[in-house]
Amino acid sequence: MTIPFFPPDLFEADRPLIHDLVFEAGTTNRFMLKDHVAALEDGFRRATGAADAIAVSSGTFAVLVALKAAGVGPGDEVIVQAYCCQPVASQVIALGATPVFVDVTADTMVMDPARVEERITPRTRAILPAHLFSCLVDMAPLRDIARRHGLVIVEDACVQQGATQDGVAAGRLGDVGTFSFFQVKAMGGCGEGGMIVTDDPEIGRRCRMLRNHGQDGATRFLHHIIGFNSRMDEIMAGFLNHRLARFDDILRSRARIAASYTERLSVLGNRITLPPPGVEGRCYYIYAVQSPDRDALRAFLLDRGIATHIYYPRILPHQRAFAAYADPRDRLDTAIRAARQNLALPIYPHMTDAQADAVVDGVLAFHTRH
Ligand SMILES: Cc1ncc(COP(=O)(O)O)c(C=O)c1O
Repeated sequence: MTIPFFPPDLFEADRPLIHDLVFEAGTTNRFMLKDHVAALEDGFRRATGAADAIAVSSGTFAVLVALKAAGVGPGDEVIVQAYCCQPVASQVIALGATPVFVDVTADTMVMDPARVEERITPRTRAILPAHLFSCLVDMAPLRDIARRHGLVIVEDACVQQGATQDGVAAGRLGDVGTFSFFQVKAMGGCGEGGMIVTDDPEIGRRCRMLRNHGQDGATRFLHHIIGFNSRMDEIMAGFLNHRLARFDDILRSRARIAASYTERLSVLGNRITLPPPGVEGRCYYIYAVQSPDRDALRAFLLDRGIATHIYYPRILPHQRAFAAYADPRDRLDTAIRAARQNLALPIYPHMTDAQADAVVDGVLAFHTRH
């Protein structure tokens, strides 16, 4: 049995809809920021409970626009986790600010709130926690730190759409939150897209202007601030409205597969680190395990036709692009270990039970031989 990491048939059932949307939106002058976008923003306000939702062209732009709207600019420092996807660092740098890297926790591999306060300086402006894999950053201690130091929290919920913590939707656990609709995300679009949610009217107003060249949406060619072209088009929004209507089912299917992985793999004890258990309030976008024999396990699974993925092979300050921002005071041992040990197993909503069993059988078989 061959099990790809990214299934090739994610959009097959949606083919007629995509064709219609391309023709309808792509061939008229109502191709962006019109009814489908407004409906999607409304859907996100309802789904998250946020006062405002602003659709943008990608998760990366969502992070950039949210940071700028929250007041991050040249000379500021922003605390980010060292083990993460690159937008948390690159978008801070794009605004002339400096990313300050902190370590992650051993079991979740996301920002460790206990390591944040020691890196706060008079220049610190924001904390940018990113939820990753199926794990949310523990946000209550971060809110406490932010309150005491007068910092803003930009919450990168790009991969945790639909998750909750203490009954509050991901994206609303800080001052402004971001989502990504990159094709293979839990609510992937047929291309790229992103969303920002916030309860702060001024941040919301600024996001709306920043995504569209600093215009206010009422009068064209009047530019109030310097912005970007980060508009969402109507094709993407029309498709995402269709996905949003079925999103709870998608989350449930992913959680069911994750629960079966956790249940069966638990017999391995401390030979492998599983994501902390828990189905409630989690988006199993990725099922990531940590193995000291990661590369051998990966090769073994591939031999059996099971593709896996490594998010991320190197921590950010060890990447050439961000080397200038590495600091000798960085204590990033847990992040470094996570980059060496992390292995993402395939998980997608239409995976069959036989496929899910084959993935677990493969991991178990590796451990009986090694
Ligand atoms: C945590 C996180 N933030 C931001 C992004 C950027 O999103 P996009 O690919 O839509 O630009 C990603 C993309 O994978 C991500 O995983």
